[in-house]
Amino acid sequence: MVNKGGDKNRLPVPVVLDTDPGIDDAVALMLALASPGEIDLVGISTTGGNIGRQGVFENAHRLLQLFGRQNDFPVGFGWGEEKDTPAASHIHGADGMGETGLPLAGEPEKIPSVELLAQLVREHSGKLVMVAVGPLTNVAALLREYPDCKKNIARLVIMGGAVKMSGNVTPAAEANIYKDPQAAAEVFSSGLPLQLVPLDATLKALFPPDRLVQFESLRSLQADFFRRLLRFHFRASRLALGVDGSYLHDALAVASLLAPQLLQFEPVHCVVETKGEWTRGMTLCDFRYGSKKRLQPNIEVAVGADGEKFIDLLCQRILIFLEKFEQ
Ligand code: BDR
Ligand code: CA
Repeated sequence: MVNKGGDKNRLPVPVVLDTDPGIDDAVALMLALASPGEIDLVGISTTGGNIGRQGVFENAHRLLQLFGRQNDFPVGFGWGEEKDTPAASHIHGADGMGETGLPLAGEPEKIPSVELLAQLVREHSGKLVMVAVGPLTNVAALLREYPDCKKNIARLVIMGGAVKMSGNVTPAAEANIYKDPQAAAEVFSSGLPLQLVPLDATLKALFPPDRLVQFESLRSLQADFFRRLLRFHFRASRLALGVDGSYLHDALAVASLLAPQLLQFEPVHCVVETKGEWTRGMTLCDFRYGSKKRLQPNIEVAVGADGEKFIDLLCQRILIFLEKFEQ
């Protein structure tokens, strides 16, 4: 994909993370913070998803406080009404972060995510990469309320959807798209340079329990948090999914900025079903055989990923990141 801003050659790239923390969201944020050579994190916009808007907003602040980054960039508060969709507490815990009990100091100021995104696009015009790893509510609102922003966003990387396989909340739909299919439909048809990291790729990104061993000797609040987060996810994934390990969907989306060769992207035409009786939130991609029939691509979709290399990269970066907090 060719970026409008040509940001490929200029590192680090300014990035905003649109997120609903979320266990894998927390790991995605850690990976971004651990990669200052490639990613210049300039803001976080939270969006209701794994838990409600207030909870994910506070979780983002908890994470930044834990890692000593609370004064480094702004955090937005989720746009719009709370969505009436199933919470993901069976996977992420009632607090959205594995019941790790992270403290929150003070009462953070609430800038609306959509205002924050508009401001960041202005400040980093043509260069800003948006990585959306929750429902697309904020991003759709940005495009609706600030249509001029569109031409100034370098690209949008989305974790969401399931293109050649079943979803995870319903047989048709993946959670982020299912929770706000209208927003997703608007974003997919917006004409923005888009990359989608769906379940087809992220189900390769399984963090196996034995990889946690290399983090055992670290002594800090931050390392302790990471271990407890992952252990909760192992337990929950075993109980809820029968899976031995932790799918770090959102971290793979961030990794696609660090090592794009880990993912196999294909250009394709993709739309979102907003209201089907069985298919709400389905990401319907045109992979018809006989490529002449296919509709014009509007998105690059990762149809696969090198899971092992991703886990290696993740462990390497997180280990170095956590070592800095050693007591
Ligand atoms: C997505 O849904 C959420 O539960 C995760 O944080 C991830 O963004 C996976 O379907
Ligand atoms: Ca998420």
